[in-house]
Amino acid sequence: MGLRVGFVGCGGFASSFIPLFRLHPLVEKVVLCDRKPDRLAEKAKQFGVAEAYTDMDDMLRRSNVDCVAVFVPRHLHGPVVTQALKAGKHVYCAVPTGNSVEEIHEIVDLVRSTRLIYMIGETCYYFPCAMFCRKMFRSGRLGEFVYGEAQYHHDISEFYPYYQREEGDNWRRVAGLPPFFYPTHSTAMLISAVADHATKVTALGYRDHGNDSIYGEGKNNWDNPFSNETMLVRLSRGGVGRINEFRRVGTRRPSSYITCMYGNKGGYEMSSRHHVLQEVHDGAPTTLTDVSAEINSTLFETERDLPDYCQRSLNAKYDSGFSRIHNVARLPKEFAGYTGFQHNGSHQFLVDDFVKAATANKLPPNHVWAAARYMLPGLIGHQSALRDGEPMPVPDFGDPPADWALLNPDGE
Ligand SMILES: NC(=O)c1ccc[n+]([C@@H]2O[C@H](COP(=O)([O-])OP(=O)(O)OC[C@H]3O[C@@H](n4cnc5c(N)ncnc54)[C@H](O)[C@@H]3O)[C@@H](O)[C@H]2O)c1
Repeated sequence: MGLRVGFVGCGGFASSFIPLFRLHPLVEKVVLCDRKPDRLAEKAKQFGVAEAYTDMDDMLRRSNVDCVAVFVPRHLHGPVVTQALKAGKHVYCAVPTGNSVEEIHEIVDLVRSTRLIYMIGETCYYFPCAMFCRKMFRSGRLGEFVYGEAQYHHDISEFYPYYQREEGDNWRRVAGLPPFFYPTHSTAMLISAVADHATKVTALGYRDHGNDSIYGEGKNNWDNPFSNETMLVRLSRGGVGRINEFRRVGTRRPSSYITCMYGNKGGYEMSSRHHVLQEVHDGAPTTLTDVSAEINSTLFETERDLPDYCQRSLNAKYDSGFSRIHNVARLPKEFAGYTGFQHNGSHQFLVDDFVKAATANKLPPNHVWAAARYMLPGLIGHQSALRDGEPMPVPDFGDPPADWALLNPDGE
């Protein structure tokens, strides 16, 4: 018998994942839940799903799902995940994990005691730049990590229609979430590449001057004044990371990327989709290799010699396909006809990880202990920014239990 997966939240993002879960050969059925009856009916019809619920409790009680896939809005994840775990279900959750250290601690404790799978669906984990840096550090080619920079820049104005549609007149209260409460598009790329965790942060925030009344004391649910947040993170083995989460910024593409990642034997750098690797060799000259063809999407690489190369690099299409670094051969053949390639083809890998992990009860790469390490520097970083850069310790919830096997111990 295959997995039975219940989606909670059937908005825009879930719509990219419902078909993939249905296509996976280890999934038996998908059921849907959304508190908006009209949307639920529309999605059930669109995806040909027979079983649908407007109430999660009802779905947990009446359907026989083994797993819950959480796609409710970003500030509501913690309680929904906790409820699903307490009901004995494996959980796939879109980012972020929760909105507070306490919420994340509770989720980690529940996973430890129930031995259920929790996986954070962090798309950037399968962004080619992050995969490339992981590969370089795992193979030892960059040596020991010394410094890296990762960022997620996405201007809030691009989200206005979404928040207005979903939240009505109060949309600003939710739109003003502190950028560091949604930190994983940048932190996951750094932390997963260097396989370490933060011990300390010092952060600064940009007090917003925008005229859209989203950021500022009293204007949002978090009294958050910052549209942009920047932090320096000290990692446990001594390396330092610089993380940006910007929501008021005049650049558009790419939105999540690694600018540089240095070890003591080499370094990766990227500017305008030009990716290079420098390596220092004992007794031989340093080499510089253009690794763009491995990292950029295949589509972009076929078009990069066109004269309007620079302008073309702003096209979102170029962030939506596989790259040479993706091991497409590991995906189920049933995914072959699927044409939704958002977020660099990462959705296919995330769904495959989760389904295989929940089926075999092995830990996916983005298990709950990894998720905590992506989240905690951001949550503490926001506190540091509110105190104008005061250095603050970052808690760590440790490694997974040693007797819990990893799904892909050798990488992706
Ligand atoms: N690259 C990425 O990783 C990425 C990209 C986009 C969105 N996301 C995440 O995906 C999640 C969903 O985003 P979206 O754009 O689809 O949002 P959305 O607002 O379009 O959809 C959310 C849906 O959840 C429903 N909902 C809310 N509370 C519910 C509840 N208690 N029970 C049942 N249904 C409930 C709403 O009615 C809505 O239909 C967000 O958390 C967002 O952070 C991640």
